[in-house]
Amino acid sequence: MIMKYILWATYFLYFGIVISACTSNESETIQENTGTPVVKAELSPAAIKGKKIFIANCSACHLMSNQQLVGPGMVGVTEKYDKKWLIRFITNSQKMIAEGDEKALAIYKEYNQTVMTSFSLKEDEFDNLLAYLKEGGE
Ligand code: HEC
Repeated sequence: MIMKYILWATYFLYFGIVISACTSNESETIQENTGTPVVKAELSPAAIKGKKIFIANCSACHLMSNQQLVGPGMVGVTEKYDKKWLIRFITNSQKMIAEGDEKALAIYKEYNQTVMTSFSLKEDEFDNLLAYLKEGGE
């Protein structure tokens, strides 16, 4: 009889520990959530695809920040230029420069006439890339 009592007591004690462990974890999680605000917004599905394109083709010369690498930092480019301009520039910046596009010439001069590689991307790849240029950044 006493053995049975001890067994039950152990059983409850064990569950008591498990439950208190769970609840204390929960309060920690809540504290974390409220204590540290999430600064980085999540990328849209298009921007996630665009990030891969960016890493594969652009990250050798561009950072997704306002720091320059070989070329300028990419933060704010979707505000600085419209979509059509960006697509033309990424497709063939040298052609735009030769045609005397003022903005293309200005950035070309600013970067000591470093030639940017030309890229032929599909329409949906441009959409994704530009989504990343807009949403990405540190
Ligand atoms: C070989 C290095 C190189 C690569 C690779 C490269 N760029 Fe560039 N990019 C440059 C340089 C240098 C400039 C400055 C303008 C110039 O010299 O023509 C520039 C300028 C730009 C600009 C204008 C920025 C501004 O602030 O005016 C955009 C937008 C841009 N690049 C996007 C891209 C994208 C998107 C990719 C990838 C698909 C890419 N670049 C790949 C070197 C590069």
